[in-house]
Formats: sequence, C-alpha cells, structure tokens
Amino acid sequence: MTEAPQKSPLASPEPWDLVCDAYVAELWEMFSAFAQKALDLAALETHSEVLDVAAGPGPLALDAARRARRVVAVDFSAGMLEELTRRARAATLDNVETLQADGQALPLPDASFDAAFSMFGVIFFPDRARGFRELLRVLRPGGRAVVSSWRPFENVPELRLPFRVLVEKMPELPFGRTKAPLGEPEEIVAEMQQAGFTAIEVHPVSHVAVAPSPEAFWASMERSTVHFLLLKRRIGEERWKELSEAILARVVQELGPGEVHVEYKALLGTGLRP
Ligand SMILES: C[S@@+](CC[C@H](N)C(=O)[O-])C[C@H]1O[C@@H](n2cnc3c(N)ncnc32)[C@H](O)[C@@H]1O
Repeated sequence: MTEAPQKSPLASPEPWDLVCDAYVAELWEMFSAFAQKALDLAALETHSEVLDVAAGPGPLALDAARRARRVVAVDFSAGMLEELTRRARAATLDNVETLQADGQALPLPDASFDAAFSMFGVIFFPDRARGFRELLRVLRPGGRAVVSSWRPFENVPELRLPFRVLVEKMPELPFGRTKAPLGEPEEIVAEMQQAGFTAIEVHPVSHVAVAPSPEAFWASMERSTVHFLLLKRRIGEERWKELSEAILARVVQELGPGEVHVEYKALLGTGLRP
C-alpha cells in the first residue's frame, strides 16, 4: 500500500494567522524590497487592474495601489487580510479590495486583470499547476504574471543553521529533506509554460537584511518563522526553550560576534497571457 502524501501544515490558513504579527514586525522590509522589484518588472500603468494572490499583509498590494487603478488582494488567512486592510486605511488607499479565498480556486471572472502577482505564495500551494492556471485565467490577453520563489536554503547558510541544529536534536524533523519549490529557474519556466504563459523570464534577485548581533538575528528568526511557531506549539514551551538556547549557542559560535548579514535569495518569474 502506498502512503498518501502528507499535506504541509503551511497549506492551511491557521499557521499564517499565527505568524502574522511577527511577520509584519520582522520581515516587512525584506518582503517589501522584493515586492518593489516585482512591481518594476510588471510596468503597471495608472489604469491597470492588479491581482495579488497570497497577498499576506500586503507589501506588494499596497505599493501596487499607489501605481495602479485597482488592486484585489487575495489570501486565505483572515489575519493577514485584516492587517492589510488596516495598513491600506492608514495609508488612505481606497483602491484596495481584499478577498479571502484559496489561490488555487479564485472566485474571480476570467480576463479581468492586467497584472497578477503571487509573491512567495504559489510556492505553498499543494496544487501549484492549478494556481498557475488560475493566474493565467484571470489575466487579460497580454497581461503579465509575476511569481516569486526562494532559492534553495543551501544558498543562505545563516538561515539554514538553526534548521540544521534542530535536525541534529530531533532527527525525525523533515527540515532539509524537502526540495525548495520552484527553487531553480528552469522549474519556473517549465511550470509557467505548462500553464500556458509565453515570453517567460526568470530574474534572480536578492536582499540583504542586517541584524545587529547574533542574538538579535536568532530572536527575530525564532519569532517570525512559521515552522518554529508550529513546532513550539507541538512540543511545548519548555522543550522549545531548551532547543532555542542550543540554537542560539551555535548561532553565536558559528556566526561570531557583531552584525549578521543575511542575503535572502529569490527568483522572480514573469510571463504573459497570450
Ligand atoms: C510567505 S507569505 C507571503 C505574503 C506576501 N505575498 C509577501 O510577499 O509578503 C505566504 C502567504 O500565502 C498565503 N497562502 C498560502 N497558501 C495559500 C492559498 N492556498 N490560498 C491563498 N493564500 C495562501 C498565506 O496565508 C500567506 O499570507
């Protein structure tokens, strides 16, 4: 008998609701930097209608709203969309609509957007092919999709280190055993082509975030990494505290004193609806 593939815990909204506040506090600047690069590739016009799928708290959607006529931000996490709405109000942006929905089944009409984004979103979909087909379907002919993914973790040793320590302590954890979804340019090209996009391009992009010390680096990563929040909930505060101390000791030992520079490496894939 073959085992059914396990559904990733990140394929449901709860963990994203859980991480939302820390995500905004710790990671907004980094995600915003990638959003800017994605928006620059899309060349929006003031009359453009824009879709942001898996919008999170809105680093891309809010900036798009400053450049375009209308933005629809879709996410399945109510917490993320509440944060996005709060931020849109604070910035007096009245052209952003939110829609709580699954990015694999968009409740939106065909051919209704000039640009469609999924920033670090489609990579979490259990059925990515469907996610890509949905992006294509809602675009007008000639409309452009932009999606982003992470390069494999091996490329960012600072981020990999805490996961390495965890697996040493708890070898049953799956960290490091799964392949980064769409981590290689040719995977983006193949999946966008399969969905029906043309003129596909992939752009490697990076952003350096600086933490003032190894302690600050680990505190930030501990708070804002959804995998760690889920693990902590599963094993309890006390066991997590032990693990966290062990990780910190290794972070200090391996990264040394002083600032920690982390180069986040991503890929931006673009394609047109024929
Ligand atoms: C890493 S965050 C990225 C958020 C935002 N695009 C950004 O760049 O900051 C991933 C987001 O995808 C959303 N998400 C994951 N799977 C989804 C799905 N099937 N449908 C809708 N949203 C989804 C999560 O709720 C979360 O807000």
